[in-house]
Amino acid sequence: MPRTVDVSDAHDYLRKRGKDLDENLDIVTTDDGVIIELFLPPDRLRFRHSYVESGFFKRAQQSSQALLKACNNRQRGIHTVLDLTGGWGMDSFILAQHGQRVTMIEHDRLIYSISTHSLECARSIRRSKAAANRIETIHVDALEFLQSLGKEEHFDCIYLDPMFPSHHSSAKPAGEMQILQYLTSNDDIDRCFDLALRKAGSRVVVKRPAKAAPLADSSPDLVFREKSIRFDVYLTTGLSHENC
Ligand SMILES: C[S@@+](CC[C@H](N)C(=O)[O-])C[C@H]1O[C@@H](n2cnc3c(N)ncnc32)[C@H](O)[C@@H]1O
Repeated sequence: MPRTVDVSDAHDYLRKRGKDLDENLDIVTTDDGVIIELFLPPDRLRFRHSYVESGFFKRAQQSSQALLKACNNRQRGIHTVLDLTGGWGMDSFILAQHGQRVTMIEHDRLIYSISTHSLECARSIRRSKAAANRIETIHVDALEFLQSLGKEEHFDCIYLDPMFPSHHSSAKPAGEMQILQYLTSNDDIDRCFDLALRKAGSRVVVKRPAKAAPLADSSPDLVFREKSIRFDVYLTTGLSHENC
């Protein structure tokens, strides 16, 4: 099983990369070190990454979110989530805020380091500490991680949020997602999905644009919708014949 990278390593990495980023991207932290700001001047993009800033923290409290309906069904025995496409860790944090134990996988080293840094800050603040302590971050490729999972390692829910393909006719995604698209890519998502269906204890959940086809053209058992996105739920061992 791949090892979690030490958080101090993430801090060092960020510090070094901050001085050595590609010419289009700039990263700074606020004086207290809690909030990381990313700038992509050619596209006028700016994104503040933090789990403790009030806007995001308030959003994380809301209990009626479709993400929670899809992944947080504790009556159905869902207590652990494997987030295979961790990204900025927003979905992982929301799930942890509502009690899930989350293992968050990210293959891009810079994105992994930013999320790990922000999580470490959230662990040092009283109101976010409990949620942050329920998240473990691992810097590894998702397919490699799934393939290395032993029989004794079990996740009730496996979650996938691949980057959405950009579409000429649709509005541009939010700044934070545009910066992600600039920095990284989706890798082996269909293979991860296929393997996740065989490894998840209870369900696989996939975030999709509201009008997109299901991943791998595979019809979900349940769908939870919001205005521009939806969550496709695939019931796996033990639940596939139950009403949910
Ligand atoms: C749309 S973002 C996820 C956003 C995330 N749900 C959030 O709330 O911030 C997708 C992420 O998946 C990562 N990713 C794509 N393929 C991956 C793979 N094979 N292994 C690990 N991470 C992967 C990308 O680097 C990117 O950061």
